[in-house]
Amino acid sequence: MRGTDFISIGKLAERVGVSVSAIRFYESKGLISCIRNAGGQRRFLRSDVRRLSFVLIAQQLGFSIQDIANELSDLPHGRTPTKADWATTSERFRSILDQRITAMTTMRDRLDSCIGCGCLSLKACQLYNPEDRANIKGAGPRFLLGDRPEKNKTDND
Ligand code: FES
Repeated sequence: MRGTDFISIGKLAERVGVSVSAIRFYESKGLISCIRNAGGQRRFLRSDVRRLSFVLIAQQLGFSIQDIANELSDLPHGRTPTKADWATTSERFRSILDQRITAMTTMRDRLDSCIGCGCLSLKACQLYNPEDRANIKGAGPRFLLGDRPEKNKTDND
C-alpha cells in the first residue's frame, strides 16, 4: 500500500464532514478500522472516506448503526474495496431502499386521503374504508402497509 493510500483521522473527519470523535465512534462500532503508523498515530485507508460517506447518508435515511454494520459486513477491512465488493453490498441495499421508497411514495400519495387506520375521520374513509373493513387484514394503517383501498378493488375486478 502506498503512503498516499492512508489519511489521518483529522483529514478523514474533515473530508466526510464529521467530528474526530464521530470517527472514533464509528471505529468502536467496527464500521472502519485503522492502522498505527511508526509514530503510533491512527491512519485510515483513503477509501474509508467512501465507506463513511455511505454510513452518513444511510444514517440520514434512518438506518441504525447495526443495520449499516450488517450491510457493510461483506466489505473487506485492511484493503480498498473493489467495485465488485461494493456491487455485492449495493445489490442487497438496493432492495431495502426500493422497499423504503415504495413505502414513502405510498405515504406521500395517501397522506391527504384515507390510510385505512380505523379512525373513520375523513370523508374519504366512507369511500375507501367503510365501517373500517380494512381492519379485517389486521392492525395499523392498512393502506400504507400495502393493502388496497376498498374502492380500487371494485373498480378493477
Ligand atoms: S384515515 Fe383513518 S380510516 Fe380513513
